[in-house]
Amino acid sequence: VPALEQEAENATIGQGVVESNHAGFSGTGFVNYDNVVGSYVEYTITADQAGEHELTFRYANGTTVDRPVSVTVDGAAAQTVSFPSTGVWTTWQTRTAKVVLKAGANKIRATATTANGGPNADKISAVRLGPVDNEPP
Ligand code: GCU
Repeated sequence: VPALEQEAENATIGQGVVESNHAGFSGTGFVNYDNVVGSYVEYTITADQAGEHELTFRYANGTTVDRPVSVTVDGAAAQTVSFPSTGVWTTWQTRTAKVVLKAGANKIRATATTANGGPNADKISAVRLGPVDNEPP
């Protein structure tokens, strides 16, 4: 089974920096989104089969205010995912979203929708839930 996951620090970063000053992250660090609308992390998930997938975003938000992002797949299918407070920056939690992926590489972009930017982003992973409509499983 291919590893359907990517560390944020290895993804494409649009307005953000890789940091490692808050413990508990996986890999070598995390992405600190710039605190502006439109900052993003774009992950590449290479699916072995097309179909509905559950994405899991691991993050920290040491403020008291939600840091929602808009999630798109190859530029489409936008949905908002909430990243509420985790209390402190060293507490990491997960939020999920369901998306349809195609077989092969999919660009999952998570774009901040408020002037606070996104949360600190650790990694993304994906699990396939099932086929798309009448596609064979
Ligand atoms: C602090 C924190 C950063 C975080 C930032 C923010 O500076 O140390 O890790 O990204 O707040 O509010 O986005």
